Amino acid sequence: MRRREFLASTMAMAAASLAPRSTRAADGWVEILINEPIGEIAPELHGHFTEHLGGVVYDGIWVGEDSKIPNVGGIRKALVDHMRQLKAPVVRWAGGCFADSYNWRDGVGPRSKRPVRTNFWTVDPELWKAPDGPQKYEPNTFGTAEFMRFCQLCGAKPYLAANLRSLTPHDFDDWVDYCNSPAGRTTLAETRAGDGSKDPFNVLYWGIGNESWGCGGDFRPEEYAIEFRRFISWVPNYGLKLCYIASGPGAAVDDAQVAWTRGFFENLLAKGSQILNRVYGLSMHYYCWTAGKGDSLDFTVDDWYQLLLQADVMDSLVTKHWLAIGEFDKDHKVKLVVDEWGAWHRGPAIDPRYLFSYVPTMRDALVTGITLDTFNRHAEKLAMCNDAQLVNCIHTLFLAREERFAPTPIFHVFDMYKAHQGGRSLRFVSDAPSISYGAGKTLWGLEGSASLHDKTLVVTVVNPHVSEPRAAEVSLQGGSARSCQVTVLSAPDIHSHNDFDRPQAVEPKAERAEVSGARFSWTFQPASVTKLEIELA
Ligand code: AHR
Repeated sequence: MRRREFLASTMAMAAASLAPRSTRAADGWVEILINEPIGEIAPELHGHFTEHLGGVVYDGIWVGEDSKIPNVGGIRKALVDHMRQLKAPVVRWAGGCFADSYNWRDGVGPRSKRPVRTNFWTVDPELWKAPDGPQKYEPNTFGTAEFMRFCQLCGAKPYLAANLRSLTPHDFDDWVDYCNSPAGRTTLAETRAGDGSKDPFNVLYWGIGNESWGCGGDFRPEEYAIEFRRFISWVPNYGLKLCYIASGPGAAVDDAQVAWTRGFFENLLAKGSQILNRVYGLSMHYYCWTAGKGDSLDFTVDDWYQLLLQADVMDSLVTKHWLAIGEFDKDHKVKLVVDEWGAWHRGPAIDPRYLFSYVPTMRDALVTGITLDTFNRHAEKLAMCNDAQLVNCIHTLFLAREERFAPTPIFHVFDMYKAHQGGRSLRFVSDAPSISYGAGKTLWGLEGSASLHDKTLVVTVVNPHVSEPRAAEVSLQGGSARSCQVTVLSAPDIHSHNDFDRPQAVEPKAERAEVSGARFSWTFQPASVTKLEIELA
């Protein structure tokens, strides 16, 4: 939020008590209103998404028990270690579009007996012309029990997407039975035990279809609402409160998407409003890109700003759909779940079979900072958000190919922002000269978010300017700093990235910060994401 007028009125008063860190005069402001809490930042707002798409599952996650690649029961160890470092809260699986063609039964029981199927994504000409592999012909080696094991190893909660397009509510009930029925009580509980888990998985999060307006069945909202009601009626719950997530609007920034949200709720409530007590969230997908989904590594300064401007659209989308939900759900029982988001570019691909894979740069790191800040600022509206996708795909945190593994700059932003998880989101106000680019376009000069954790205040700030540092006055309304630790992710070139040859080319650095009091100066480096961890007096 930018409140130039509000800041201007306090500027003169504050300037006298500042101890400038740099020789530049302040040309920006960051203000944290400690007594204006917004809501708790659910750790799930920093969640992830994995789909049987390209190299995400094979060989991003699953390398096999007999592999020479270090693994834990077939799951890539380097990935697990990094996920633990992130405190990854939740992982969505098995799609995406794949979910609405997936029969979960294919992925249970002895691995040697599981069927081989044609992967949904062979509909994509790029994958179709790529060499054969598990990406095209799904061996089902990685099924429900393997995914649960992956979540357990990472310390993350599972979020399953049910097939609404090509399976029935009965199949859905059975999947819940396989996952959650008490040990030894049902035939499917016995199947689960055979797959290595006597005890139930107790899966809480269930998505009912995916993009049901498109690959998930081409429904109209009124048709989907009826299907949704049918799927969530009388599902076996084994004493758990299952969290059903409805398939919501898609990526396009137009009124048709708000029409989906309205149309869905209008028809959902056709039999009464009690159903709102049983709907946990409405999902929303938003990918940002530049015209024609440009090259991930080869982009201009204008492309840089244009992508960041597109990423910023998330802010208005969340508000738009939240208001639309509120027309039907006055008490806001149903929250938003942004279960796919990220920046989508074209290759060069990591491997021709790894559909939608590309190497992310600092530009994608800033998209991540902008988006996570947006989620933090809207913490009261959001129940969960999932970056699409975890490894070897769009907006990926990791590159993995056979023995080689590299965390991307996106990973580093998630790692920095984990300090926000579980905190109380606070009102964040900033102002700085806006940036002009292209033909009359502008982007804001500084943006961020803040959260409080007992006496620790976490502030994250993005400076999108490709070359100018931004000297800013940081003001804590209702508190005073005793000490501060600063972490900065920046790089000499906006195209900087990590790859298999230079996995540590881009990494965050700790900076010395001698700040105290209610106001201090900080210079935000060009093209950077900064975290200030402030101990309050
Ligand atoms: O993440 C790739 C695809 O994008 C997902 O499968 C689908 O839900 C979305 O359109």
